[in-house]
Amino acid sequence: MTILTMTNDIISWKSPSNIALIKYWGKHGVQLPQNASLSMTLKNAATNTELQYRHSPNDMEVQYFFDGERSQIFEEKVIIYLERLKSEMPFLGDYYLKFSSSNSFPHSAGIASSASSMSAMALCLVSMEEEVSGKKLAKSDFFKRASHIARLGSGSASRSVYGSWSTWGVAEGIKNSSDTYASPLDFSPHEVFSGLGDAILLVDTTPKKVSSSLGHHLMKVHPYATGRYRQAAMNLEALMVSMQVGDFDSFACVVENEALSLHGLLMTSSPEGLLLKPGSLQIIDAVRQFRNETRTKIAFTIDAGPNIHLLYPQTERENVMQFIENELLQYCENGRWIDDEIGDGPERMK
Ligand code: PMV
Repeated sequence: MTILTMTNDIISWKSPSNIALIKYWGKHGVQLPQNASLSMTLKNAATNTELQYRHSPNDMEVQYFFDGERSQIFEEKVIIYLERLKSEMPFLGDYYLKFSSSNSFPHSAGIASSASSMSAMALCLVSMEEEVSGKKLAKSDFFKRASHIARLGSGSASRSVYGSWSTWGVAEGIKNSSDTYASPLDFSPHEVFSGLGDAILLVDTTPKKVSSSLGHHLMKVHPYATGRYRQAAMNLEALMVSMQVGDFDSFACVVENEALSLHGLLMTSSPEGLLLKPGSLQIIDAVRQFRNETRTKIAFTIDAGPNIHLLYPQTERENVMQFIENELLQYCENGRWIDDEIGDGPERMK
């Protein structure tokens, strides 16, 4: 194995993960969503990716390092992605590319890293495209292009190139919405949603048995698919109203319905995927009881895994911290959870 030595151009981006509140589950064509989704960009869970490149007389050559170590598994996936990208970015064929990535969140934290890693890589590639072509894009076009390139790697990554709130997918009521790239939410949500906290409760961090690619694929023949896409559109509309008027209760209702619908679809697909653990259900139960008894503004959402995200306005932080400490840590693997919140989006580091 030869290690490339580079004396050349370096680009580096830090890009965050995101958590979908209206879930993307089911795709068609080349990574096009069956329904529009809406997500909140996180602050602390992020990937740092550095790209070193130099001109190569031969074809594209790629090396991928993760946490300082060359990673064969990731490298193979990245090469497949970049080969597909050549039709979009033909210049890639003329370069040596060396990627070095690391995540800010701990290993095996049960946080999907595809959104942060693919968006960080896409941002590096679009910056490189600007540099090698000598054509600088307007800021909004830059992020639109990065979102499009990220989407080709992982659908949810298309939303991570923006801070705060993003939507992806054509939706009635969202101006200029597109299936090929995400956009920042086209209104400012009510202040109750600014600075929203996200406590990620780690119930089980063993690698999941059902990949999202398989999950999307299973939707192609899922008996509930049509109803699901209709439900997602209705939930998106309802969520945007809640966010505009500042109604946390109806926000919680929609967000929780989306999370449980995703898992309902998983459990009723063939082959089925049961990803929730007893601890996940115990947390859901405890959150609902706590909310009924204390009227605390708190909502749960869940990705395609057993871990639970608790969303809450900053005014509730003290209450929520006590609740986690007193009642929920018992359901977390080794008492672990991640303290995150809504973030400002990616940052160019070099
Ligand atoms: O982007 P993918 O292909 O990893 O799919 C993501 C699917 C969910 O995380 C379950 C939902 C979403 O919209 O992020």
